Amino acid sequence: MKSSVCFLLLLFSFTSVLAQQKSIIGNEVNPFFYSITKSKVYSKAAVVCAHPLASEIGVAIMKRGGNAFDAGIAVNFALAVVYPGAGNIGGGGFLMARQSDGRLIALDYREKAPAKASRNMYLDSAGNVIPDLSINGHLSAGVPGTVAGLFAMHQYAKLPMKELIQPAIDLAQRGFAITEAEAGSLNHTKQDFIQFNTRPTAFVKDSLWKAGDTLVQPELAQTLMRIRDSGAAGFYEGETARLIVEEMQRGNGLVDYTDLKNYQAMERKSIQFNYRGYTIVSFPPPSSGGLLLAEMLGMIESFPMHEYGFETVRSTQLMIEAERRAYADRATYMGDPDFWKVPVKTLISKAYLQQRMKDYDSLRASKSENIAAGVIHESEETTHISIMDKDGNMVAITTTLNNSYGSKTVVGGAGFLLNDEMDDFSSKPGVPNMYGAVGGEANAIAPGKRMLSSMTPTLVLKNNQPYVVVGTPGGTTIPTSVFQTIVDIIDFDMSAAQAVNNPKFHHQWLPDEVMIEPAFPVDTQKALEGMGYTFAKRGAIGRTEVIKVNKGCIEAAADVRGNDSAAGY
Ligand code: GLY
Repeated sequence: MKSSVCFLLLLFSFTSVLAQQKSIIGNEVNPFFYSITKSKVYSKAAVVCAHPLASEIGVAIMKRGGNAFDAGIAVNFALAVVYPGAGNIGGGGFLMARQSDGRLIALDYREKAPAKASRNMYLDSAGNVIPDLSINGHLSAGVPGTVAGLFAMHQYAKLPMKELIQPAIDLAQRGFAITEAEAGSLNHTKQDFIQFNTRPTAFVKDSLWKAGDTLVQPELAQTLMRIRDSGAAGFYEGETARLIVEEMQRGNGLVDYTDLKNYQAMERKSIQFNYRGYTIVSFPPPSSGGLLLAEMLGMIESFPMHEYGFETVRSTQLMIEAERRAYADRATYMGDPDFWKVPVKTLISKAYLQQRMKDYDSLRASKSENIAAGVIHESEETTHISIMDKDGNMVAITTTLNNSYGSKTVVGGAGFLLNDEMDDFSSKPGVPNMYGAVGGEANAIAPGKRMLSSMTPTLVLKNNQPYVVVGTPGGTTIPTSVFQTIVDIIDFDMSAAQAVNNPKFHHQWLPDEVMIEPAFPVDTQKALEGMGYTFAKRGAIGRTEVIKVNKGCIEAAADVRGNDSAAGY
């Protein structure tokens, strides 16, 4: 008996050593030496996301027998470590997926307003919005959904959760070399980290960060270990919950034990529609993304876009007018479907969309003041992951803390950033949020309600077979970037890389202006100005990640606008 116990113990320690030896970090993935791949063709499977280490981890997981869902979970956890500006466990997100047998999964793990939240919580006694209260610090945080989402996603995966989270633990514990962009962004946010934290954080050090510095996050590693060992309860209950609630109490936040314990991810019915014979599948409310995409593509479908040509005056003007009208509907009709009846069917019906374009004039700009919502008888940091595996499972995940580094508040002792997703609610009807988006009753704050999102994880099928996986960060610019990427691929026959890297433009009804990236063609801009359009130049719009099936191969394209990187085999 004694000897068999000894043998078992020996076997156990041997397997532990073996498991340790087999850690992805230090074997398949070197956290101190990695490179960025912008665009590559693979034969079996690919991952595209905001950080090369996370893409490589996703591929290593698939090579070890995992599918696209396993990879999605592992990439998510890894991004929470290597891309803290948007990768997260303290935020929320959406998964839009298609299993190889054709089953669609729309998983909603969006943050919720805490039970103590109230409609006017960001207004002063005169009824004015208090600047920044919904954007920075403890009070801006919604109840995090990411960890519940990743556990709900796990039912579609093949490998044990412990294996999927371990690379993130190793990266947090042992550290990794940060990129130049991360160094710049941590330095830029230093004062905010100091202002909005009650305890020291791993993101602040005496000297400035520089490329190649090692970022070690021991408290985050401990939190991830609690999740590994106790499942979702390792986050929503016990020690982590205690640390979150204590952090809230130190900073006037509202999230409490009951909010955490009650949080649940939900399966939703995806938005599905046809565009020129392709099937588009995208995310329903509480995201506005899928509806906006369906509206915009539906409004331009009867026009010969291919004939008009890419970024010509004709095609751009038409797309701007479709964007303007769709976003006017967003402000009035869209909100959490558990609290507000969103007229989904009507908004995407052909009859409604034709009616919506009745006053479209191809020779001049409409004025947003004359465009109301249709009549019915309803710092931009987020991050996107596109994955396709060898069996044809398609996974599109968009996840967010909202702003870059969310509320800037790290949970003391737990090492992760809290979101500032409460700003995605409409704090006061008609007053724009951080993205300049206005809203009304549909998206007013209420306890337990999910704030309206723009995240648009999207799949495209050709002849009912996997064709494109696409998504991007960018706040309210997300749906227009996905819209333009799909038009570039379907109407203008572009490769994944071209579609991703083309200059983007964006109109969101209010303000009544077209935002453009610096590389937007000047001739088109000048001609459109002559028709009455106002332009506003801005920096990068989104960081779109595309996987496209082409002649049996997989084209993977990571956006040139960041450190985004593709990996595959
Ligand atoms: N926080 C960005 C979005 O959900 O749209």
